[in-house]
Amino acid sequence: MSKDYLILLAQSNPNFRIAELESLADLYNIPQIDFSSHSEAHPFLKIKLDNDEQAKRLIKRTILTRGIFELYAEGKNLTELHNNLKIFLKTNPNILSEYRDSSFKFDVIGYKGNKSLKKQIEMIETFQYLELNGKIDLKNPEEIFTIIENYDRIDLVNQKTEDKKENFELFNKKVENSSYYFGRQVQLSLRTSNILKKYDLKTRKYIGTTTFESELSLVSSNIAQVSKNKLVYDPFVGTGSLLLTSANFGGITIGSDIDVRTLNGNKEKGINIGSNFEQLNINLQFLDVLAMDFTHHCLSQNFKIDTIVCDPPYGVREGLKVLGTNRPKRFEGKENIIIDGEKSFLRKDYVQPKKAFELEKLLDELLEFSSKKLNKNGRLCFWMPTVNEVKNEEHVIPRHCELELIYNMEQKFNKWSRRLLVYVKRDLNEYKGETIKLNEVHKSYFRERYFNGFKSIEDTIK
Ligand SMILES: C[S@@+](CC[C@H](N)C(=O)[O-])C[C@H]1O[C@@H](n2cnc3c(N)ncnc32)[C@H](O)[C@@H]1O
Repeated sequence: MSKDYLILLAQSNPNFRIAELESLADLYNIPQIDFSSHSEAHPFLKIKLDNDEQAKRLIKRTILTRGIFELYAEGKNLTELHNNLKIFLKTNPNILSEYRDSSFKFDVIGYKGNKSLKKQIEMIETFQYLELNGKIDLKNPEEIFTIIENYDRIDLVNQKTEDKKENFELFNKKVENSSYYFGRQVQLSLRTSNILKKYDLKTRKYIGTTTFESELSLVSSNIAQVSKNKLVYDPFVGTGSLLLTSANFGGITIGSDIDVRTLNGNKEKGINIGSNFEQLNINLQFLDVLAMDFTHHCLSQNFKIDTIVCDPPYGVREGLKVLGTNRPKRFEGKENIIIDGEKSFLRKDYVQPKKAFELEKLLDELLEFSSKKLNKNGRLCFWMPTVNEVKNEEHVIPRHCELELIYNMEQKFNKWSRRLLVYVKRDLNEYKGETIKLNEVHKSYFRERYFNGFKSIEDTIK
């Protein structure tokens, strides 16, 4: 029989929370969880699971939750919480017997508010009827019983009258929502273990101007379903943020980038991507990086990848370049230049000519590449920039007939956003999706809009 659990979510990037939970549920074979009661407005999510084992597997490595609790009762106020808890204990008389003699403590977690310590202790004492006989151990208890208080409702009560009117509907709805929860802590999330501090860019040895932020990098690796010994590839690796967070979850990581200077790192200081892996003590998970133009890659046909996770160049802050030239005449005959008895283009220090390329074409190539290289059910997760406030223009998302688009999540900035697009490699016998080539819909779209200050296309034509 399934049991009720309460997930306490982090109020950060709330529109990415369900994708993270669903991806981990799928990775760890936890079937059919109903997440439909999720709301981005608050951090409480009730679900049903078979047992604590499932709860632990689901939550342990999440970044966008704080923890999961077996839920015994809830109520609009403390009195109602106690009434409901007593009813629950009557109908489930053995629910606490397993923990009755365990050492324990009580925790109080407040959302948007907190009671004073004195008031918390008074509240904890009202739970004496639970008849827990174990020793109280504040440092290392076997069980932690948790009271969660939601003060959000009270915030609304204290609002000015006009605001209250405006929020009247919301206010009434919130009053109906439970504001107290009581349960047993089953698993705290990775977020609560200081992981964000560990991956914070401020303390990372080697970073650049486009190094990807740590929180969404960890979330991307979770949604990409990186797991122990899976091969993870970032074709636009830069300083390696997404590989670092993938290595954190046990992935074997490899990257490539066209910019050899980024890969070489700072030679004077002796730091490069490898230093980051060493600093975080995950260097065994790091295969290597290749200096390579993605559009002229050298990976063999049989080289298969479990997961591709990346943040392609937008062609705005960092160059989007590919090998080649728009002025071939300028390079005529240069293949014959000899330096120190060696053909110059065969030397290690040879710098190939490069030309600008379009983001749309690059993303089409990324999908084509992924359809060939990913193992069945492997994921492609990448960040794509889009323009906000599109008048009469829809966001066009690239598609490939062998890749099922399962998530399209937006991180909004001022006039533009970036979206995490997540695709799963499917077998053509089982799945046939549509193909949309971005480059056939519009060229240099994001770049042009960026450099004209995100005016709409109509305004630009005027
Ligand atoms: C947005 S940055 C990636 C940042 C990276 N995620 C990090 O955390 O540092 C995009 C990278 O793509 C690289 N790039 C641009 N054109 C490329 C190409 N044709 N092939 C491979 N890499 C390319 C750039 O040199 C840049 O390092």
